[in-house]
Amino acid sequence: LFAIPLAAQQPIPADAPFRPNLVPWPVSIEPRGGGLRLGPDMTVTFAGFREARLDRAVERYRLAVARRKPESESGSPVPLRIDVSGGEVPGRGGSPDESYHLSVTAAGISLRSVSPVGALHGLETLLQLTESDRGGLAVPAVEIDDQPRYPWRGLLLDVGRHFEPVQAVKRQLDAMAAAKLNVLHWHLSEDQGFPIESRRFPRLQQRGGTRGYYTQAEVKGIVAFAADRGIRVVPEFDMPGHATSWFVGYPALASAPGPYRLETRFGVFRPAFDPTREDVYRFLDAFIGEMSTLFPDPFWHIGGDEVMPHDWLANRRIRRFMAGRHLAKPADLQAYFNGRLAAILAKHGKRMIGWDEILEGHLGPGTVVQSWRGEGSLAAATARGFAVIQSYGLYLDHIKPAEDHYAVDPVPAGYPGDPAAIWGGEACMWGEQISATTVDSRIWPRALAVAERLWSPRGMTDPDDYYRRAEAVSRSLAERGLTHEHHSATMLAVLAPAAARAPLAALLEVAVPVGFSERSDLQRPLAGTAHDRLVDVAEPDAWKVRRTLARLVDRFLADTARRAGRDSLTAFFESWRDIAARIGTLDPAIPLVTDALPAAATLGEAGAAGLAALESLATRRPMDPVHSARAPGLLARVARPAGLLRLDIRPGYAKLIKAALAEALQP
Ligand code: ACM
Repeated sequence: LFAIPLAAQQPIPADAPFRPNLVPWPVSIEPRGGGLRLGPDMTVTFAGFREARLDRAVERYRLAVARRKPESESGSPVPLRIDVSGGEVPGRGGSPDESYHLSVTAAGISLRSVSPVGALHGLETLLQLTESDRGGLAVPAVEIDDQPRYPWRGLLLDVGRHFEPVQAVKRQLDAMAAAKLNVLHWHLSEDQGFPIESRRFPRLQQRGGTRGYYTQAEVKGIVAFAADRGIRVVPEFDMPGHATSWFVGYPALASAPGPYRLETRFGVFRPAFDPTREDVYRFLDAFIGEMSTLFPDPFWHIGGDEVMPHDWLANRRIRRFMAGRHLAKPADLQAYFNGRLAAILAKHGKRMIGWDEILEGHLGPGTVVQSWRGEGSLAAATARGFAVIQSYGLYLDHIKPAEDHYAVDPVPAGYPGDPAAIWGGEACMWGEQISATTVDSRIWPRALAVAERLWSPRGMTDPDDYYRRAEAVSRSLAERGLTHEHHSATMLAVLAPAAARAPLAALLEVAVPVGFSERSDLQRPLAGTAHDRLVDVAEPDAWKVRRTLARLVDRFLADTARRAGRDSLTAFFESWRDIAARIGTLDPAIPLVTDALPAAATLGEAGAAGLAALESLATRRPMDPVHSARAPGLLARVARPAGLLRLDIRPGYAKLIKAALAEALQP
């Protein structure tokens, strides 16, 4: 009844080039014709360097294949030969040589790499190539030569604002491995939580981690799980700001006397470390020393973002300290703090990373800057000789479509500096508006777009091609236990009565959550706010309808007979009217229905106006006066939040309506 007419999607032409469903797309891929049918088992031989991690990766491949094809088959076992020339040697950005060569023929599979991590990537490519057909499982015969464009391909996961259980973190790591993302930037401490156990300073988790924390054994398990998949874990302990949770148990670290309580709101708050006291540095030295035993990576993120100077300037002792050391402004005091931290980190074998605010004062050589506030900081950092990790435009919490992130190249247009100073980038999943239930759906599949941007050659920019491949890879992530593919249906089954599920699901084919700042303003969520509203059920990128609609509108407007695509567009608009009508019959007191009503009403109107526009354009007669008069207001409303949702039907819809309005003005 509410099926949105997606049959109108573009078919793949019969003579389409060889485009298997790989994300990220490899540097070089050559079909060899034919393929390899997978038999009942594989015979694996290792040549060269060998380590247990490789055996475990092969075992994961076997298991994944077995999951897709549980019945045993006849035929002989397929030979898989893995030839790794050496162990892991860290290079630029701390990552090893990640290249691999994968050759599949009718006779077997050969995988060569320099490092074990290269072989892990090759096995992931092999799994993406392994597809079911009528005869069972098969791999096309190919030669692939592949290596990443950037050595630092990260995902930031914020577990300080909302705690994510161990299994949720491991799911992200599993998906990262499929996407060849190689750095988990684990944003741990925040104003709202201290989610990790310290034995030296147990009040950190006892008082600061009341919303959940990882034991040290769990942290070790997660770091080992990541390493098994070629993923490095870089912890972030944000300081001197975003640090309230430290001060709940240890108020003497702070610049004001306290007492402190865990923050329940989200935003930027006054509490800040006191950079003037030696006790603070002794504490941090001991703490970092303890944490270094859990995090073997040579990089360490100090945060450094969004520091409010209020508590520093309100403190006479801190002001005297600044005057005595000729630290003219708060950024200079923060730079002093950063310098002390860098020395402590160096003592523990760690190299410092910080958000781009740390550029506002003196910064020691070797620091790595993470750019988030704009392209300017990237050029400013590299001009001063710092390596940069790019995150501007890669914030997943902003709820933008994958194609927007796909379009963000780590090297901005006109960048004058040394391209080698840009180590890569990170997709950032901040925690204000996610929960353990929704986190998979906020990260995946959109993070695949960032993963491809950071791995594949710069010229890979076609969003249609990306979305087609990503759709298949997204499904394969679900096979690994990621919840994003069934997220909406699962939540609707729990939260909505049976009669409401189909119409709400249909609405969510075209409605997405509003952006981060809109939701912050409209809902004002707190750390304890439940994530059980329609905005949480909705998925961030309604690409199928949005892109199909835009293509149909283009075809329709390009056809002088105004026939092409008209039936499909009519079916879309009629389904919108039906969805609105059906939601209108549901009990408005049901919370998800309450949430749906504004978007459903706008969608119903958009459907009616769309039908009027089609009629006008097809008959070359002006739209009726009522629809013409309402159209500009309707277009404005389509662009705005409807409750906590936004209709993801522009730009195709707006183009059609504007064309109909323009038609009315023709002489
Ligand atoms: C940040 O988004 N405050 C780094």
